[in-house]
Formats: sequence, C-alpha cells, structure tokens
Amino acid sequence: MSITSENITAEPLKKLHFLCESLLAEGDLNKIKEKTASAIQLADEVPEPLKSVILDHMHRILGSRGIDRAHYYIRSVIKDIGSSGSASSLELNINLWKAYNEIRTDSLWILGKRDRESGHRGWYWGNFVPQIPHQLMMRYTRTSDWILDPFCGSGTTLIEAIRMMRNSVGIEINPEVYSRTREAVQSLPHDGARTELILGDSYTVDLAPVMERNGISSFDMVLLHPPYWDIIRFSDDQGDLSTSPDMESFMSRFTQIVKKSIGVLKSEGYMGLVIGDTYRGGEIVPLGFRCMDAVASLNMKIKGIIVKDIQNTRGKRSSENLWRYRALKSGFYVFKHEYVFVFQKP
Ligand SMILES: C[S@@+](CC[C@H](N)C(=O)[O-])C[C@H]1O[C@@H](n2cnc3c(N)ncnc32)[C@H](O)[C@@H]1O
Repeated sequence: MSITSENITAEPLKKLHFLCESLLAEGDLNKIKEKTASAIQLADEVPEPLKSVILDHMHRILGSRGIDRAHYYIRSVIKDIGSSGSASSLELNINLWKAYNEIRTDSLWILGKRDRESGHRGWYWGNFVPQIPHQLMMRYTRTSDWILDPFCGSGTTLIEAIRMMRNSVGIEINPEVYSRTREAVQSLPHDGARTELILGDSYTVDLAPVMERNGISSFDMVLLHPPYWDIIRFSDDQGDLSTSPDMESFMSRFTQIVKKSIGVLKSEGYMGLVIGDTYRGGEIVPLGFRCMDAVASLNMKIKGIIVKDIQNTRGKRSSENLWRYRALKSGFYVFKHEYVFVFQKP
C-alpha cells in the first residue's frame, strides 16, 4: 500500500506528511527551511520514538546546504512516517532504529547504578540490576510476549516485564523469597500484563498448566540468572543449585533446567544467561564459560558474549583493601565483571 496523508491517522503526522509532500514540490531552499522551521512544533506532538527520528531529519533539512540534500531528508520524514506503524518506545521498530539510543549493541556493559524506578526495591542479596532484563526484553521481545525466568529470586525480571507490558512466569525454590516476591509483584499496577509466580524447583515444576491457563504453547524468551554455584547459598533445599556439592553436580542440574527451558522456548526465541565466575583451590573456575558451553551444546546459537561490570556493593567496598591484599599475595585478579550470554534457538 502506498503511504498517503489519507491513510495516516494521527493528526500531527498527517499534517507533517502533507507538509513534506508540498516541500518536495518547492524549488527554493530558503522557503523549504522557513516552512520546516515553522513546523517543528508539529513534530513535538508526535509520540516517541518517531518524534526523535523526525526531529533529527527536520534539523538536517534546516542545516542542508543544497536542495537535493534537503529533499533527501524530506523523503526520509515521509518514509519514516510510513514505516512507523504503531511504533512504541517499549519495543524496537527497526525502521526507526536511530531513535533507540538506549538499546546496547556493544559487548561491554558498564551499567552504572541500579535502576530503582517503579517497583524495583533491590532488597535481595544476589539479585541483578533491572537494566539487564530491560535490555534483553527491549531487544528480543515485544509487548504482550511471554518471558520465563526459572531462577526468579526477588522478581526483577517480572517487575521489569510489567513495566514493559510483557507477560511473565517466574519460578523460585525458596518459600520465603517466593512469598516476599509475590507480595511485591502483586502490589504493582499491571496494566494488562500477566504475571505468574510458581513456588518450586525449576527442574520438576510442570509448566503445562500455566501455559494452558494462559493460552500459550511456548515462551518468547527465557532469562536465566542461576546461583553462581555456591558463592551465595540461597537455601538448604537439595534442588537449589547453590547447594550443589561439587562443580559437576552444579553443571548437571543447571543443564537439566536449561534443557527444560529450551523445550518451552519458541523456535528462534532468545535465551539470556547471566552468570559470573568463582575461585576454588587457588584457581579460577570459569563457571561463565562452562555454562555457556553447556547451553551451546544443546544446539543453541551463541549470539552474544557480554561482559558486564560489577558495581561495588557496600559490603565489598569495606573489604576492598583485604581483597587487594589477597589478590597481590596469591597472584589472582579480583572479579569486577560477570557475563550476559545471549543464545537463540534454531
Ligand atoms: C542469582 S538468584 C536470582 C536473582 C534474581 N535475578 C533477582 O534479580 O532477584 C538465583 C535464585 O534462584 C533460586 N534457585 C536456585 N535453584 C533453583 C531451582 N532449582 N529452581 C528454582 N529456583 C532456584 C535461588 O533461591 C535464588 O533466589
């Protein structure tokens, strides 16, 4: 279908489209600039992300030295209005890619402080920053999609999913953490986003009833943030990965849960894995790479190996000198990073 001002519904867009068509017929560069300058406030009424893209083109029209260049940017406005569809700042519209400055495409994430907006309290020792699920959901899912978090903890993924109008299912093995998270999630306004929290072991939980109840046959994304083996012992439950007596049993339990998660992930769906390394017996145990290999060996494509900075927690800051001393004495480096791996199901 060709884009005309008749089939554009929003008023400012219609006017902008109409203006651009008349600008293309205009042969005087100064007049084009005058009319563009007086239409800037129209672009201000357009919702993001289209607004930023259109404003950028309009400023380029104003800065054009030749009429051909100005016409090029006028056509760009017309093209982007036509391809914007129902563009939303909550999901990536690749036609308007320039407007999504916040989405990271590089492999080093210095995320800074924890985002404490709406609902994120940060009470849980061992949580991740909401910016991680935000980045992954923004890039790989759309509104109304379903996200599974098999190591839900304090529900950072679920809370972020609500904020981003996605549906989510979280599984948590620790009953106290489950209750507190359920309360926190329930107290949030959901605006239509559905959230289910299940108490249990992700390996044994039956997801079929939840999926049936919600009318879905698969999840659009899985986000895994397992214990980093026994760095933090989350409970005494035998199914809890942090109680694994050795590395081999940790890997085998982890792999079983990943296998199960892949089983409910749609084909071409994405899986995110957040994990760090540990030390044992005077050497580094590269837990991150071992887990990455375990997922990849289940026929998942590796799409991203991201190094994320670890912000100093208050506890760590006070013992910084001690860690520095130990590192210097024993020849190791203090961990300041963890990994975010991204996989895609073929
Ligand atoms: C690293 S934390 C996840 C934190 C979470 N991303 C957040 O922001 O709060 C890992 C969580 O997995 C839970 N867990 C460990 N083994 C599990 C299992 N087999 N099934 C379900 N949950 C498990 C732990 O109790 C812990 O809450």
